[in-house]
Amino acid sequence: MKVDMSYFPKDFLLGAATAAHQVEGNNTQSDFWAMEQVPGSMFKEPSLDCVGHYHRYREDIDLLAGAGLNAYRFSIEWARIQPDKDSFDQKEIDHYRDMLGYCREKSVEPIVTMHHFSSPKWLIQEGGWEAESTADYFARYCERLARELGGDLEYVCTINEANMGLQIAKIAARHMAVMKNNLQVGLNSEQGEGGGMEAIMSRMKAAGEAFGMDPRNIQDFLKPRTREGDRLIMEAHEKGRDAMKAVYPHLKTGVTLSLHDIQALAGGEQNAEAEQEDEFLHYLPFLRKDDFIGVQNYTRSVFGPGGAVPPRKDAELTLGNYEFYPEALENVIRFVNKHTALPIIVTENGCATGDDSRRIEFLRRALAGVKNCVDDGLPVKGYCCWSLLDNFEWQQGFAITFGLIAVDRKTQRRLPRASLEFLGSYRNK
Ligand code: BGC
Repeated sequence: MKVDMSYFPKDFLLGAATAAHQVEGNNTQSDFWAMEQVPGSMFKEPSLDCVGHYHRYREDIDLLAGAGLNAYRFSIEWARIQPDKDSFDQKEIDHYRDMLGYCREKSVEPIVTMHHFSSPKWLIQEGGWEAESTADYFARYCERLARELGGDLEYVCTINEANMGLQIAKIAARHMAVMKNNLQVGLNSEQGEGGGMEAIMSRMKAAGEAFGMDPRNIQDFLKPRTREGDRLIMEAHEKGRDAMKAVYPHLKTGVTLSLHDIQALAGGEQNAEAEQEDEFLHYLPFLRKDDFIGVQNYTRSVFGPGGAVPPRKDAELTLGNYEFYPEALENVIRFVNKHTALPIIVTENGCATGDDSRRIEFLRRALAGVKNCVDDGLPVKGYCCWSLLDNFEWQQGFAITFGLIAVDRKTQRRLPRASLEFLGSYRNK
C-alpha cells in the first residue's frame, strides 16, 4: 500500500485571502467609502486607491501561484455589481469573471465571498443590516451572480463573519461603560477611551448627511447588532445560499464565522460557555443545509469568574493588539468539529506584524495544528492565510500589516515577504 507521506493531502486547498474593499481601491458606491469621507471620521485614513488590486489582480495571483499556493479567497464587491438598487453592472460582473478565469489559468482554486463587510450605500439607506428587506436583496444579488459566474465556481462563502455584529455589540457595551465612567470622574473629550462627546456628535451629524438619513439608523455590517439583526443576517445567508444552489446545485456554499479559542480560568467556566453559545453554537441551526463552514481565527479569549480577562502583561501582542497565540486555531477547529460534521475550510488565520519572522513562526505553529487535525481525520479541506497583501485594515487603516506581500503604496509595487514562500513550501512538504 502506498502511504501518502506529504504534510497535507494532495487536494488540500492552501492559499491566501483578501476582501474587495480592503485591496481593490475606489469602491466609491459602498457604505465604507462614504463613511471614510465623513469629516472627523472614525477611520484613521480613507481607503482611496487602496493597494490597487482591482487593476493588479493578475500580478497578485501570479505571485500567489508562483509561491506554489493553489487557492485564492477573494470577495465580490456588491456595491460594484449593484451601484444602485435596480441595476446590475455587466462590466463589473465581467471583471470578476476575468478574475475567476485567471485563477483557473494559474491552477488556483477561487474561493469567492459574496459579502465581506462592505455593502452598497443604497442598502444602508434601505435600512441596512437591521432591515427585513436585506435578506431578499442579498438573495437577488447572489442569484444573479450565480447565474453569471456559478459555472466557473465551486466554493462560495455567502457572508464573511456573520457573527461579527454581536461581537461588536459587546465591545461597544464595554466602550459605553468606559465613557460613562469617564463622564462621572470628569475626564473630558479626547482623554477618555470613548473619545469626546462633541466629536462623536459632529461625526454622527456628518454621517447622517452623507447617507441622507438619521445617523442613528445607519446600520452598516459592522454596527453593534441586535439579536433580531443577528437573525436577519443568518436569514440572508440562508436565502443567498438557497438562491445560488437553485441555479447551480454543484456549488459548495458556507458562511464564515469569527471564532476565538475560548478558554476558561478556574471559576470562569460559565462565562466561557455563554461566550461559546453566543459566538458559535446558536448559529448551528442555520448551517444545516451548508456544504462547509469557514473558520476564521486570530487568537484566544480567556474568561475568568468576572468575565473576559486581558492577555498577561508579558504576552506577545500582534500589531492588531491580539495575543500572539497560533495554537488557538487547532483548538477552534476541534471545537467546531465537536459540534458539526461539516467540512471545514480555514478561510482566515494570520498575524499582523512588522517582523516577518514572527509571521513565519505564527504560520509554522498554526499549520502544525491544522496538520494534527487532518491527521486525526477531521474534515479540514483548506487553509487560507489572512492576508495575501498588506491592506486597508478598516478603521485602523494601512498601518496594520497582515500581508504575505508588502505593498509600497506610492508606486503600488509588490514586495513579497519570505512568509509567502514559506507558506507555499507547505504544498510540497
Ligand atoms: C476580517 C478581515 C480583517 C481581519 C483582520 C477579519 O475579522 O474578515 O476583514 O482584515 O479580520 O483584522
